[in-house]
Amino acid sequence: MTTDVSAAPGAPSCSTPGPVAAPAPWGRVTLVGAGPGDAELLTLKAARVLASARVVLYDNLVSPEVLAHVPVDAERIYVGKKSSNHTLPQEGIIELMVRLAQQGKSLVRLKGGDPYIFGRGGEEAEALAAAGIACDTIPGISAAQGAAAAVGIPLTHRDHAGMLVLATGHLQGEGEARTVELDWEALARPRQTVVIYMGIGTLGVICSKLIEHGLSPDTPAALIERATWPQQRSIFGTLQTLPALSVEHQVSPPALIMIGDTVALHARIGVGAALGGGA
Ligand SMILES: C[S@@+](CC[C@H](N)C(=O)[O-])C[C@H]1O[C@@H](n2cnc3c(N)ncnc32)[C@H](O)[C@@H]1O
Repeated sequence: MTTDVSAAPGAPSCSTPGPVAAPAPWGRVTLVGAGPGDAELLTLKAARVLASARVVLYDNLVSPEVLAHVPVDAERIYVGKKSSNHTLPQEGIIELMVRLAQQGKSLVRLKGGDPYIFGRGGEEAEALAAAGIACDTIPGISAAQGAAAAVGIPLTHRDHAGMLVLATGHLQGEGEARTVELDWEALARPRQTVVIYMGIGTLGVICSKLIEHGLSPDTPAALIERATWPQQRSIFGTLQTLPALSVEHQVSPPALIMIGDTVALHARIGVGAALGGGA
């Protein structure tokens, strides 16, 4: 009897007659969006996949409540990343996923928020595809959406913002030349909401560049720290006042910066307690 293993991705074709055991088929990877923190914001599909997971690789921003959906006897591998302190470098995470899948293990790659929004999910999916590993993606609620709903900031609004911009405030480049490389003119346009991820360390630069490029210093701006977690904090101010408020309240990652007239609507919609001056 000839066993046709050609369906196993990447497995060698085999025509040897006789009782040769077929290599175990490769496992598949499911990239799962864990949402911003509150486990009730998981999609039904994500919760179902987590409940039957056998191996889970998870990040720093996955909350304990979300992780509690994984069976207690499943293998949990922490590959967490804090911006400069990677437990495993990105290449190492990809290598580990490929190795596990080639051993026949199907795994869940659990990532904070949405895997394809500043989550390097695209790089991982590309690398898995190149290695011939099957990969599915389950979207998650991104931090911007979780934070906006949690504090009452509509990200778009017919009267105030017809565009939503998600940007990273992460420093680019090396050493002394490190800077925030953003399209300041585009970010300083009126009638849009700008949400900046990973921008707490560069908040001062971001606010002054936006003012330099034409936004009023009085433009409403907010910081939302650990949105949807029990420790959530929100601070409201303006482009001018936000950097000092951030220092005063010792805001630390994970946090988002939200900018635009929609931010002021929180005062009318208002949910949760806010710190700082009103916008
Ligand atoms: C590597 S990015 C991951 C974003 C994630 N994929 C998403 O869709 O939300 C990490 C950044 O997302 C933001 N972030 C993630 N979770 C957050 C939360 N619960 N509250 C506020 N900001 C959060 C912070 O700016 C943090 O530095």
